[in-house]
Amino acid sequence: MKSKMRLDKMLGNLGYGTRSGLKALVRQGAVTVNGVRVKDPGMQIDPHADEVMLEGERIVYRDTVYVMLHKPAGFVSATEDNRDHTVLELLPEDLRVFSPFPVGRLDKDTEGLLLLTNDGKLSHDLLSPRKHVPKTYQALVAGHVGSEDIATFATGVTLDDGYVTLPAALRMLAEAKPEANLEADGAAGIEPEASSFTLEEAIARLDSFPALGANRTSWREAVDAGEPLSWIELTIAEGKYHQVKRMFEAVGKKVLYLRRSGMGPLPLDETLAPGEWRELTEDELERLRSYKKTEEQTQ
Ligand code: URA
Repeated sequence: MKSKMRLDKMLGNLGYGTRSGLKALVRQGAVTVNGVRVKDPGMQIDPHADEVMLEGERIVYRDTVYVMLHKPAGFVSATEDNRDHTVLELLPEDLRVFSPFPVGRLDKDTEGLLLLTNDGKLSHDLLSPRKHVPKTYQALVAGHVGSEDIATFATGVTLDDGYVTLPAALRMLAEAKPEANLEADGAAGIEPEASSFTLEEAIARLDSFPALGANRTSWREAVDAGEPLSWIELTIAEGKYHQVKRMFEAVGKKVLYLRRSGMGPLPLDETLAPGEWRELTEDELERLRSYKKTEEQTQ
């Protein structure tokens, strides 16, 4: 990597102003480099080694950003879009100057963990089909998800285009059944599953997920039709287009709500509300990088 760059370019890259504005600032004497006031905006500096101060403020250079976003529904995973709001619009200008892009895509109506970075290599490594970085999702599915589906997902599901997915780990988290069904089960001597919750509890739980506001009609329809609702967790090791939704379609079920809760070694920081973001910690970044190495070693 080139270690030297123009002083005004370094400040511009960090979002401190336009090149012309910064040139003027430097000429006015607002900048010192290693304690010496400089007047040449084109001065070559080493942005990582030289100490640059702008109007008395120490400027710490960096050229990469790593952001964890809790993507809300209603935003597309793109840097630009003519019709829809993009996830980039959720980041402040001082991060957008680094031109981050989403690491992979979540559908417009999917919520949850989305990484954004301008580190093309890390992004490529995380998305490479050869690396099989696992992604974990939680979904609300119309209908009863049972042991047959778990077995089918564990061996691979044939999607609508004939593609057979890699084995995926499906886990039932909870099931909401209309009261009538619970009563029928009871009459038939069927014990409600340990994790079952009542429809009222389900609705209260669903209400705590903001994206379900937008999807309310679809899950309401399922509830009104007397269908059970299944709250599941699915881990897949690839990322085909609409993969989770299409896997459930292949077993005759509809995903009503989808959120990603983890990618590789990183769980979604659940303290982030939908629409909120934070930069990755050093430790998280290190875990992503070394996770990638571990994956490479196992190949
Ligand atoms: N699978 C889907 O169907 N949608 C997503 O957004 C992510 C995975």
